[in-house]
Amino acid sequence: MALHIIEHPLVQHKLSIMRDKETSTMKFRELLQEIAMLMGYEITRDLPLAYEDIETPLMKMKAPKIAGKKVVIVPILRAGLGMVDGLMKLMPSARIGHIGLYRDEETCQPMFYYYKMPAGKERLVLLTDPMLATGGSACDAIDRLKADGFSNIRLVCLVASPEGVKAVQQQHPEVDIYLAALDEGLNEKNYILPGLGDAGDRIFGTR
Ligand code: PRP
Ligand code: URA
Repeated sequence: MALHIIEHPLVQHKLSIMRDKETSTMKFRELLQEIAMLMGYEITRDLPLAYEDIETPLMKMKAPKIAGKKVVIVPILRAGLGMVDGLMKLMPSARIGHIGLYRDEETCQPMFYYYKMPAGKERLVLLTDPMLATGGSACDAIDRLKADGFSNIRLVCLVASPEGVKAVQQQHPEVDIYLAALDEGLNEKNYILPGLGDAGDRIFGTR
């Protein structure tokens, strides 16, 4: 379905600082949270509202509130964790699921190790991962969510390659994709170009 690229100048400015190889782990993590929060504003723009009776200090009114069950934010471990706090600032009562996948260094295939979701299959799932490279990890995570009964899924990434976007659109055409940038392509090791390097390592300082 739809590909949304969030071109807000604040998002683009912060992303450029993140891409810089001289940016520290602390700053990288902080910027990722800030961008996730800014993206969250766009991602939730069409959430349905229901009108509830409340009383202001002056009179009664019907006031709009977000309808339905709480959203569930689902990071793909590890790097997706870096986007959770920013989204949680906007939606403090959101539920959190986790999907553990890492990309095998030789084959680039996603290797599965963990899955935990809250109850309520009708919830809107915001699946987070800063990097959409070949699309293998995102497609595998979406497969698992669908197999578990979740069908209302939005994929929230920072940077994607055209190959990754194509893979998700072909395998999961009903999933909306939200990005801060669509980059040029992949290198021979399936890293995004120009990209920002290994997101997990830059968030957690593991290299
Ligand atoms: C990275 C990234 C995605 C995946 C993207 O995770 O965070 O999950 O690779 O690549 P793909 O689109 O080709 O599948 P990685 O495997 O490095 O694990 P980590 O987050 O634990 O560092
Ligand atoms: N995973 C990353 O962290 N970065 C890439 O460019 C590709 C996969």
